[in-house]
Amino acid sequence: MNLTNQLILANGPSASVLEWTDKVTNLAYIVAALLFILALAGLAKQQTASRGNRFGMAGMAIALIATIVKAVVASADDTENYNSPVVTLLLIAVAMIIGAAIGIPRARKVEMTGMPELIAMLHSFVGLAAVLIGVNSFIQKSESTEPVAGFNLGEIYLGIFIGAVTLTGSIVAYLKLSGKIGGSPLMLPGRNLLNVLVIVVSLVGMGVFIAAGIDNPALSWTILGIMLVLALALGIHLVAAIGGGDMPVVVSMLNSYSGWAAAAAGFMLANPLLIITGSLVGSSGAYLSYVMCKAMNRSFISVILGGFGADSSAGDDRDYGEHTEVSAEDTAELLKGAKSVMITPGYGMAVAQAQYPVASLVAKLREQGVDVTFGIHPVAGRLPGHMNVLLAEAKVPYDIVLELDEVNDDFGDVDVVLVIGANDTVNPIAEEPGSPIAGMPVLKVWDAEKVIVFKRSMGSGYAGVQNPLFFNENTDMLLGDAKQSVEAITAAL
Ligand code: TAP
Repeated sequence: MNLTNQLILANGPSASVLEWTDKVTNLAYIVAALLFILALAGLAKQQTASRGNRFGMAGMAIALIATIVKAVVASADDTENYNSPVVTLLLIAVAMIIGAAIGIPRARKVEMTGMPELIAMLHSFVGLAAVLIGVNSFIQKSESTEPVAGFNLGEIYLGIFIGAVTLTGSIVAYLKLSGKIGGSPLMLPGRNLLNVLVIVVSLVGMGVFIAAGIDNPALSWTILGIMLVLALALGIHLVAAIGGGDMPVVVSMLNSYSGWAAAAAGFMLANPLLIITGSLVGSSGAYLSYVMCKAMNRSFISVILGGFGADSSAGDDRDYGEHTEVSAEDTAELLKGAKSVMITPGYGMAVAQAQYPVASLVAKLREQGVDVTFGIHPVAGRLPGHMNVLLAEAKVPYDIVLELDEVNDDFGDVDVVLVIGANDTVNPIAEEPGSPIAGMPVLKVWDAEKVIVFKRSMGSGYAGVQNPLFFNENTDMLLGDAKQSVEAITAAL
């Protein structure tokens, strides 16, 4: 240990050490914030995504080191209010070891198909942290002899409110996405009125809380307690009312809430980096929600108000006639004679982990001179960009992976479309007014000369809606696990 460290630990840091620590950590925070912005920019494109991830990791490492140094120096300076620097370091180390022991094995084990629920679960931690920081800030303010500004009380109140909504909302999202509870929306009578009532009562509570301040702790704590219960209930109700295909928007919306909760925590802790990072997450989550609403042709308000998927059995009682089945060998024959093939993957490709055999099939077809492209629906799978990540992992060339807008008018020129584990995203019923997924843009695969659908059964997709495509004359069903079917086709080729 060098002399400065020994001095700090023995006598507390001098004013100049404190000043320098402040300057250096603030500089480190600016560098970390810039790296986070570069990370977000990099993550916008597949080609730059891994570089973006590295920027994010570097930013997080700098932020962590700066925060630990700041905490140790601050605790050496103010031994009355803080633990000794050694205890502070030890506590941080213990927290990091426990976090890493839980997080690393979990992250290693998670399948791509389990990512949405993992993300939902992680959002709930941010919500919980915001609630705890808010309560802790109020305890600290109550114990301090200095006057507390109404603004500070307002940020504590808002931080706890947003954190509590994020906490329970994310838990319900986790339970729904992991199938631990049913996915259909909870339709309480007057549910919108209930939400508005909770928000109005909470806003009135905020006024009373700020007025009561730290001079009337009994009243302030009572108001905080009532608001906490209401916000927890609101989080549950908001997400429970949303069902079916709207869940992806909910995940990105909760992502946004968790960002705002972190920003509120940043205000409470007077930590500029947390404010910047929280705002980045909050605004990018909000923008992602907007992009996804646009992709599904849903208004953000109607998603929040919930209820989608309530009528998920609609269309099921209609008789679409008989479907036709096809074998892998016959599909291989069909592909041999095709000039252009379009593949539209969906969630089933992720479940079957069929991306590698699909990549081999594509390579084989391209060797034989077949023009192969992919048509990717913006909400195919369970995460935005889910299919792109899987195809990139299997080294499918980026330039043949196209977006819905780029391919939707071209299906008429395609000889064979292979629908691999997709269902809702290729459902023509979306074009029927009044159907449960009415208005959602879909890939018009039925315009192609021939459509082969790879799935295990005639069951419906995520939104629980029957798919008339399966019964079209130019559609054949290749029933079975997508990975095995694709491997069998490649073998037959
Ligand atoms: P889905 O509509 O969920 O259809 C997937 C199909 O894959 C199912 O019909 C299933 O049929 C089949 N499948 C499952 N495992 C399979 C396997 N091992 N082999 C072959 N097939 C298999 O998927 P999609 O078309 O990608 O649509 C996505 C849906 O999820 C949309 O409704 C969307 O709104 C929603 N969603 C999207 C997101 C985001 S952000 N993208 C997030 C959550 C939800 P079988 O069971 O018969 O095999």
